[in-house]
Amino acid sequence: MGAGPAGLLLSHLLHLAGIDSVVLETRSRAEIEATLRAGVLEQGTVDLLRECGLGDRMLRDGFVHQGIELLFDGSRHRIDLSELTGGRAITIYPQHEVLRDLVKARLDSSGSIMFEVRNVEVLDFETARPRLRYNVGSSSNELRCEYVAGCDGFHGVCRPTVPAAARTEYTRSYPFGWFGILVRAAPYSKELVYAHHERGFSLVSTRSATIQRLYLQCDPTDHPAAWGDERIWAELDERLSTHAGWPLPRGEIFQKGVIAMRSFVLEPMSYGTLYLAGDAAHIVPPTGAKGLNLAVADVQVLASAFAERYATGKSTALERYSSAALERVWAAEHFSWWMTSMLHRFPDSDAFGYRMQRAQLAKVISSTALQTALAEQYVGSPLPGAAAYGKVSSPRGRSRTLADRAGSAPDP
Ligand code: FAD
Ligand code: PHB
Repeated sequence: MGAGPAGLLLSHLLHLAGIDSVVLETRSRAEIEATLRAGVLEQGTVDLLRECGLGDRMLRDGFVHQGIELLFDGSRHRIDLSELTGGRAITIYPQHEVLRDLVKARLDSSGSIMFEVRNVEVLDFETARPRLRYNVGSSSNELRCEYVAGCDGFHGVCRPTVPAAARTEYTRSYPFGWFGILVRAAPYSKELVYAHHERGFSLVSTRSATIQRLYLQCDPTDHPAAWGDERIWAELDERLSTHAGWPLPRGEIFQKGVIAMRSFVLEPMSYGTLYLAGDAAHIVPPTGAKGLNLAVADVQVLASAFAERYATGKSTALERYSSAALERVWAAEHFSWWMTSMLHRFPDSDAFGYRMQRAQLAKVISSTALQTALAEQYVGSPLPGAAAYGKVSSPRGRSRTLADRAGSAPDP
C-alpha cells in the first residue's frame, strides 16, 4: 500500500528476490513524481539503491557532500563527515527523483502499480489470507494477498486499521514548523549549513547548480502567504549573518510551503499479516534528514524477511521484523530529536535555555568525540545491502549483485 519510497522500493526488492507484489497508490504518477520532500540520502541508502540497479541517475546527478556546517554566534564550523566516519558521505538527490527511478524500474520490469485507487480497505489481516478492497474509476476490485505491507505514509489507512488495543503510539509535537522555499540561484554554500540563531533555526540546502532549498523555523500555523519575499530575505540575512559576512544573493522564490514537526513511533510495526514500514509507522522531525532513509532501512529488513520466508518457508525473520526495525527507528528518533532540540528556539525557553544550546554547540565543535558521534549518526550506519538476499555467482565467476538480477528475475 503506497507508492512512496517505502512501497516502491519494497516492491522492487521483492521483484529481485522473485516475489510478486502489487502496489496500490491513491495519487497519480505525475503527482507523486512532482512532490517535493527529502533531499539527503545516507551512504547506506545510496549503496543499496546502486546495488539494486537504481543508481545511474543518482550517481550522475546527485551531489556527494563530505561535510556539513554548523553556524552559531556568527561563525561557521565544518564537520568533516568523511574524515570522521572512514570515508562515508551523504548524497543530495531529491526524493521525487528517487521515486521517478523506482517507478520506471517497476514498470520496465512489468511490475504492477495501480495509481489513483480510491476507498482502500484492508480486510482479514489477522488471518493468512488478507484482502484489499478498492475502487479504480467506477470499478470495485478485490485483491487476495498473502501479506500486506502498509507503506501508505503518516496519513494512510493501514495504521488506523490495526485495533487500538494492539498498538502503542509514542508522540512528541514541536511548537514550531519549517517554512521551506525553492530559489533560482547558484549554490549558497558547498555543503549544508544548519544555523542556530536567537530568531530561530534556518537551513541552507541545495537541489542543483541553479536551484537552492532553504528552510526557516516558523510558527507551525503560519500560512505561506504570511511570508512575503522581503520578509523571507530579511529573516535569512539576519539568521545567517556571520562575522565574516555572508550576504545571500537574491533569486526568484518559486515554491513556498510550511512543514509540521513531530516525532512519532508505532509499536509494534506489524499485526497479523500486515507489516508497516516508513512514515506509516514512524515520523521524525526533518532536522536529522532521516525519514526517507528510515523508510529505506525498514523495507530492506522487510524484503529480506520475505525473501527468507519464500526461500525456506520459515517466518522467523518476519516475526523479528518489528523489533529489528525499531532498533534503528529509535536511534534515528533520538538523533532527530537531539538535533532539533539543539538548533531550534523553543517559545517557552528563556535566556538560560538559549545559553545551554550555545554551550552544547560549542562543545560539539570543540570535541572530536562529539563530532564523530554526530557524523556517524548523520551519515547513518551501513545497511546489510545485497548480502541480505545472498549474492549469487554469475556464470563468469564474479559475484553477482541484485543489479545483475534486475533484468532476469521474472515477475511470477
Ligand atoms: P510517503 O512518502 O508519505 O508515501 C506514502 C504514499 O502512500 C504516498 O504516495 C501516498 O499518496 C500513499 N497513500 C496514502 N494513503 C493511501 C491509501 N489509503 N492507499 C494507497 N496509497 C496511499 N527524509 C530524509 O531521509 N532526508 C531528508 O532530507 C528529508 N527531508 C524532508 C524534507 C521535508 C520538507 C519533508 C516533508 C520530509 C523530509 N524527509 C526527509 C522525510 C521523507 O520525505 C519521508 O520520511 C518519506 O517520504 C517517507 O516515505 P514513505 O514511503 O514511508 O511515505
Ligand atoms: C533538504 O534538502 O530538503 C533537507 C536537507 C537536510 C535536512 C532536511 C531537509 O535535514
